[in-house]
Amino acid sequence: MAPSPDVARAVELLRRGGLIGLPTETVYGLGADASNELAVRNIFAVKGRPSTHPLIVHVADVARARTWSAGFSPQAELLAAAFWPGPLTLIVKRSARASDAVTGGQDTVGLRVPSHPLALEVLREFDGGIAAPSANRFGRVSPTTAAHVRSEFGDDVELVLDGGASQVGVESTIVDVSGSSPRLLRPGGIAREEIERVLGVPLLVATHASDVRAPGMLESHYAPRAGLFLVSADELVGAASKHAPSRLVIIASTAAPRVAGAVHLDVPEDADGFARVLYAKLREADGLGDLILAVPPSESGLGLAVLDRLKRAAAPRR
Ligand code: TXA
Ligand code: MG
Repeated sequence: MAPSPDVARAVELLRRGGLIGLPTETVYGLGADASNELAVRNIFAVKGRPSTHPLIVHVADVARARTWSAGFSPQAELLAAAFWPGPLTLIVKRSARASDAVTGGQDTVGLRVPSHPLALEVLREFDGGIAAPSANRFGRVSPTTAAHVRSEFGDDVELVLDGGASQVGVESTIVDVSGSSPRLLRPGGIAREEIERVLGVPLLVATHASDVRAPGMLESHYAPRAGLFLVSADELVGAASKHAPSRLVIIASTAAPRVAGAVHLDVPEDADGFARVLYAKLREADGLGDLILAVPPSESGLGLAVLDRLKRAAAPRR
């Protein structure tokens, strides 16, 4: 079957070294041909991201993924079989195919097979790797709709494919399987517990100092412009009165108490639901107030990723 006109245009742009807005099930990506160093460098320029921070290479299936790697360990094979296509990124030893521009000069590469049907269609038709970070300016809130991407980049990105609102809502879980013990580098769309169940061993958790190469590991990230504080539902009313003169926005489930005079942006009580709307709510809150109070979900399942992103969004800016 011939590809849709949008997919054909996206593939043509990629072949010419252009940038596209690519929908995935986690967040929208800013994609370029991973084999074209100039195109990859343009991602960094447009995003305003330090060039030593490596990018994830997206591919259509595990067979293509292996060509970017010097070899999948048994653990890499297990995780790929269990979770691809899906919101998991594997860090593996790279092959010569993965350039320094993509890997930030490291001897590993991040690989992911996304599950969004439009992303898969583009990847199959393109038949190569697409390097894609989240399609936001460096340090800012990740996009979960095509409109978010357009508002971040305007004319700097020629084509943004519209695949609807991202279903998962937070970035992929990143697991480093390049060494002897698998390590969780970033919590995300696949729960840590699920990964540990498949591996049969607990994941080591990366500490900040050893992994500042991953932007998700920097303290302040995923940040709205407004100030953000995390509070428990019990603390909400007290915290609100402390910040009384501010235009206050509250991101919490309806189980949290209502605060008179504040704008409440309700989120689902379950962690998966919270994850799905997290970034859209942060963007919305930014336009509505100068101070945001957020009540995070519990840490299990996708709650870990939501809590991680909220903590970074709340971290002091540099
Ligand atoms: O869900 C996602 O992963 C989205 C969608 C678009 O696929 N992409 C995404 O990309 O979140 P980005 O660039 O915003 O975050 C990718 C993370 C960064 O923290 C980067 O440093 C890390 O992956 N990473 C990539 N390659 C790596 C490597 N070889 N070693 C360690 N970390 C790596
Ligand atoms: Mg990002």
